[in-house]
Parts: sequence; C-alpha cells; structure tokens
Amino acid sequence: MIDKSNLPGHIAIIMDGNGRWAKNKGLSRAQGHREGIKRVEEILSQASDLGIKFVTFYAFSSENWKRPKVEVGILMHLLDIFLGRYVRMMMKNNIRFLTIGRKEPIPERLWKKLLAAKEKTKNNRGLTAVFAFNYGSRQEIVDAVKKIADDVLEKRLRPEDVSEERIGDFLDTKGIPDPDLLIRTSGEQRISNFLLWQLSYTELFFTKTYWPDFKKENLEEAISEYQTRVRRFGAV
Ligand code: IPE
Ligand code: IPE
Ligand code: MG
Repeated sequence: MIDKSNLPGHIAIIMDGNGRWAKNKGLSRAQGHREGIKRVEEILSQASDLGIKFVTFYAFSSENWKRPKVEVGILMHLLDIFLGRYVRMMMKNNIRFLTIGRKEPIPERLWKKLLAAKEKTKNNRGLTAVFAFNYGSRQEIVDAVKKIADDVLEKRLRPEDVSEERIGDFLDTKGIPDPDLLIRTSGEQRISNFLLWQLSYTELFFTKTYWPDFKKENLEEAISEYQTRVRRFGAV
C-alpha cells in the first residue's frame, strides 16, 4: 500500500533492458524499444493519478550515439512517431513536457517536434514529464561551467557569488527539484552519466525487471520501498 502523504516528489527512471528483453523473446532490439516506449505512457499516467509532481525518463544518453547507426535511427524514429501520441495524452492529463540534453546532433525535424510539444503543454499544471534526450550529465556540467566562466569574464557574475544554487541555475534541470527516487531497471547497478549533480541525496532503487516488463505493480513496489527509507541528508 502506498502512503499518499509520503510520495516522492520527483522520480527519475533509467529505462534499461529493452534489448535483453527482446533477445530473450527471440525478437529484434527494435521491437524491444517499441515495447519500452509504450511503458512510458502507462507509467506517466499512473504517476499522474498518484499525484507525483515530476518524472524524468532517461531516453537517450550522450553515449548512446555509439550504437549502430540503424539502432540510433530506430530510436529517433520511435520517439518521433510516439511524440504525437504522448502530447495528446499529456494534454488530457494536464501534464507539462520538458526536455534536458544537448540539441546537437538531434535531427532537426525531431528537435522541432520536441519544441512544439513543450510549447503546447507549457501551461499544464499537473505532473511535469522530463525527457532526458541526448543527455549526459558530464556534458551538462561542462556546458554549465562554460557559461559560468563566460559570465565571470563579462563581469555578470563574481567568482564569490558562485554557489550550489547558482550552479543549479546553469544546469538543464534549472527549476526542477532534485529526484527523490531513482529507479533503474534491468539489473544493472550504475548511474551511466545520469544526473550526477542532482542525485546527491536521491534514494536508489534497482530492479532486475527489464523496462518493457515494468508495469503498474513495479512502480508501486518502488514507491513502497522508498517509503521505508530514512533520509538523513547527513544529519542524525
Ligand atoms: C534501454 O535499453 C534503452 C536505451 C538505452 C535507449 P537498452 O537498449 O540499453 O537495452 P539493453 O541494455 O541492451 O538490454
Ligand atoms: C542508460 O542505459 C541510458 C538510457 C537508459 C537511455 P545504457 O544501456 O546506455 O547504459 P550502459 O551502457 O549499460 O551503462
Ligand atoms: Mg542498456
């Protein structure tokens, strides 16, 4: 049972295991991705019904460009076709859509669709769905440091004014609270360059379940487990 008074405000998810899920079933990796992308909509609608305020999905990392060209193409294509469906669903559920990650080298057509989805949902006040797409935490930090250096050089910022809050303002996640709960599926227990700064005090939940098998009861299990954790933030 989930205690509605102790919900994680922000859940971040590393959706992993599409390829292995497909392989186990004798299917192609593309079919694994196609199945995985369907779970996003279901989990979003469940999280929204529960009253969760933010969900961040790791959809494509800055390192995922290393994959075969065909697979990268399939992932871009799937997001492109599913985005329209997501937007309809998000409008119905009062969900705001945001992205984090670098623009280049996302295909122009897909980038425009992502922008349009953000624009269309920007006044929605329910849950915020964040897509980490072409996202890598280290490159996000590099970009932030460059902007800070530039602001110092141009005298818009004094070195003594650089603080944790100010650094947060230069990250893609500006305005988004740090995750309370991180879920990684597929049995891997690593962060894979996801939200390194933001996860400082996040509760971690690892499950062997592959992302395409991640259903309602799995999210409930993760939240229930979160609710047993004692968060001390360094204090006693
Ligand atoms: C996660 O599944 C989807 C993305 C990283 C885009 P994978 O494609 O990494 O699946 P596995 O890890 O190979 O099983
Ligand atoms: C992390 O999964 C990235 C996403 C889920 C988008 P990967 O499958 O790319 O991570 P590694 O390579 O196993 O660390
Ligand atoms: Mg993987």
